[in-house]
Amino acid sequence: MAGQLAVDASSSPETPAVGSPPVLVAKGVGVGYGGVRAVDDVSISISKGEVVGIIGPNGAGKSSLLGALGGQVKRTQGVITLGDRDISSLMPHDRARLGLVRTFQTTSEFARMTVYENLVTAAEGDRGASLRSVVLHPRQTAQRELELRARAWSIMERFEMTHTADLYGRELSGGQRRLVEIMRCLMRHPRVLLLDEPMVGVAPHLTGKLIDDLRGIAQEGLGILIVEHALEVVRKLCDRVVVMAFGKVIAAGEFEEVVRDPVVQAAYLS
Ligand SMILES: Nc1ncnc2c1ncn2[C@@H]1O[C@H](COP(=O)(O)OP(=O)(O)O)[C@@H](O)[C@H]1O
Ligand SMILES: [Mg+2]
Repeated sequence: MAGQLAVDASSSPETPAVGSPPVLVAKGVGVGYGGVRAVDDVSISISKGEVVGIIGPNGAGKSSLLGALGGQVKRTQGVITLGDRDISSLMPHDRARLGLVRTFQTTSEFARMTVYENLVTAAEGDRGASLRSVVLHPRQTAQRELELRARAWSIMERFEMTHTADLYGRELSGGQRRLVEIMRCLMRHPRVLLLDEPMVGVAPHLTGKLIDDLRGIAQEGLGILIVEHALEVVRKLCDRVVVMAFGKVIAAGEFEEVVRDPVVQAAYLS
C-alpha cells in the first residue's frame, strides 16, 4: 500500500502517526490465556488529537489488546509508554491517573446514581474519596469538590446532557449510557481514551452524534483508540485504522486503503 503507515508483518513495528509525536506507544505487546496467544507481538501508537480504529474479525484479540494497554489484562510481553513514562507494569488506576483511561460497561452502581453523581464520583477513580483527606484537609477537599462539580457541569454542557443531570443511570437510553460512560472518562483528564465498541446499544440515528462528539474531543487534543466493528462508523470517525486477525496486526493505514487490501478482505471472509 503506497504511502501507508509502515506495517511489517514480520515484527509488526510501531505505526508512526503523522504530525505530532505519539503520546501512547506500545511495542511488541503480547497477551496469552493459558495456551492461547490472544495478542502476539502487536505494536501500535497514537498521537494527540488522533482517532485510531482497531478492526478485525471476532476473536482477533482487539479487546485483549485494549485490556493490555489499560492494564486490566496481563501482558506476557512488550513495553507500553505514555508520554515519556514506561507504564507497562502499572496498575489500571495508576495508568488512568497518568491519563490512559478505558471505558467500562455500566455497573449496578451506575444505575443507582444520577448522571451528575456518576460524573462527580468518576473523577475519584478506583480509590474513592478518602475520609482521611476530608478530616485532615477540609479546605482542599472542599475546593476539590467545587472543581469537580464545575467540571461535571461543563462536561454535561459539552455533550448537551444537562437535562439528564438528575436522571438515574437506569432511566437512560442505551445511547445516553454510552455517552455518560465516555463523559465519566473525561472527568479524569485523559490524554488517551480507550473505547471498546462504544456504539453497541446506541440507536442508529444517534451514532452520527456520537461520532461528532468523539471527533470533537479528539480535536481538543485527546488521542482516541477505538475498537469498532461497524466499518461505516470507522470510515467516518477514524484518521487511520489498524486491522488485527489471529492476535496480529495484518494491515494498517487509511481506511479506504486498508479495506481494499486483499489480506484484510481474506481475514474478514475466512
Ligand atoms: N478471559 C479469557 N480467557 C481465555 N481466553 C480468552 C479470554 N478473553 C479472550 N480470550 C480468547 O482470546 C482471543 C481474543 O479474544 P478477544 O480479545 O476478546 O478478541 P476480540 O475482541 O477481537 O473479539 C479469543 O480466542 C478469545 O476466545
Ligand atoms: Mg472484543
